[in-house]
Amino acid sequence: MSDSQHVPFLDLISLHQELEDELLTVVRKVLRTASFVGGPMVEEFERDFARSCESAHCAGVSSGTDAVRFALMAAGVKPGDIVLTVPSTFIATTEAISQAGARADFVDVNPRTYNLDADKFRLYFETYCTLDHKTGRMIHRTLRKPVTAVVPVHLYGQMADMDPILEVAARYRMIVIEDACQAHGAEYFSRKENRWRKAGSMGHAAAFSFYPGKNLGACGEAGAVTTNDAALAQKVRTLRDHGQARKYYHDMEGYNGRLDSIQAGMLHVKLAHLTEWNRNRREAAARYSELLNEASTSVVTPHEPSWSRAVYHLYVIRSTERDQLQTHLSNSGIGTGIHYPVPVHLQKPYRSIGYKEGDFPVAESAAEQVLSLPMYPGLSSAQQNRVVEGIARFERSSESPVPIQSASQA
Ligand SMILES: Cc1ncc(COP(=O)(O)O)c(C=O)c1O
Repeated sequence: MSDSQHVPFLDLISLHQELEDELLTVVRKVLRTASFVGGPMVEEFERDFARSCESAHCAGVSSGTDAVRFALMAAGVKPGDIVLTVPSTFIATTEAISQAGARADFVDVNPRTYNLDADKFRLYFETYCTLDHKTGRMIHRTLRKPVTAVVPVHLYGQMADMDPILEVAARYRMIVIEDACQAHGAEYFSRKENRWRKAGSMGHAAAFSFYPGKNLGACGEAGAVTTNDAALAQKVRTLRDHGQARKYYHDMEGYNGRLDSIQAGMLHVKLAHLTEWNRNRREAAARYSELLNEASTSVVTPHEPSWSRAVYHLYVIRSTERDQLQTHLSNSGIGTGIHYPVPVHLQKPYRSIGYKEGDFPVAESAAEQVLSLPMYPGLSSAQQNRVVEGIARFERSSESPVPIQSASQA
């Protein structure tokens, strides 16, 4: 197989080669000012990232995991609380919940979008919770703990259906922290407000990751919290900096969770390209779906509801023969990924919670069937053709793939 036929799952090299001069200018500037942590570059990035999310404030932090943790803590989640999220996510979501001192609990996802199912979210309260009339809070009946927050995850770059989620959350007085770590620039049409809203602007706060492979990625670790609440933003700034608002005067114990200047400067350079990169991803996604449908493959392509403008951090198909398909593509020089092979409620650290296979069937079935195809802004049409040809060839060579029922229903 020649190199030209290889299609990597992700190409982070070409993008950085194109921006090399601009990125090196950032490094030189930081070296000359020795302003390594905090300072004007961080503030400049925070201002412009908040603007791009149509959110009033942004606090840069050291990772997306810290962003979820600090957002939860700053919004008022207390040790011992229960925080709801989905089983179809990266473990960082639930790690951050635990690190905030809370206990994660789960609500299953929608079979077509893989995001929090608003009806099941409502059913969780109707089935398991009761109102504590003294505090006005929802208490989990058997666990005897308050349920105080929900973290909808905008998985793969598509926002969760926020209107009904926010409605249920308001009814039960939940704090809402968007996990927007995979959704920089994603948009949602709010039927309630009759306007498009940006990821990171709809909850009490939102968490972003700038891990290098993200739609907006740093050249190292970085993250951010966005919010329209000035007091919450200030709390995140204090938490990220050892609990101090003024140097060496500590209001509380905090963390070392700051964003450094080189990452902020590089992110600022890249932010100018985010809209174009997201457009490229959306075009590539539309082309994949068209090619896969034309080739009459049995794989299920991603579902983008009319209220969503997804930014395709990942382009995820479903196949009943996922593992064999992945091996076949790998043998043909095509890189793929599985996001994620084990739903979080079945991961080892959460065994003590007591969930078992079958408890969240939609997330579990997705975990068995999802396959992420190569996706990045510079992905060429020829590369996409090769990926789709690879899938079509696999299907011709395998007996008769079983059509997927669950994903196309609902
Ligand atoms: C959904 C989700 N949440 C949280 C995170 C954590 O971000 P980070 O790796 O920057 O800590 C990630 C990163 O992959 C993610 O995909």
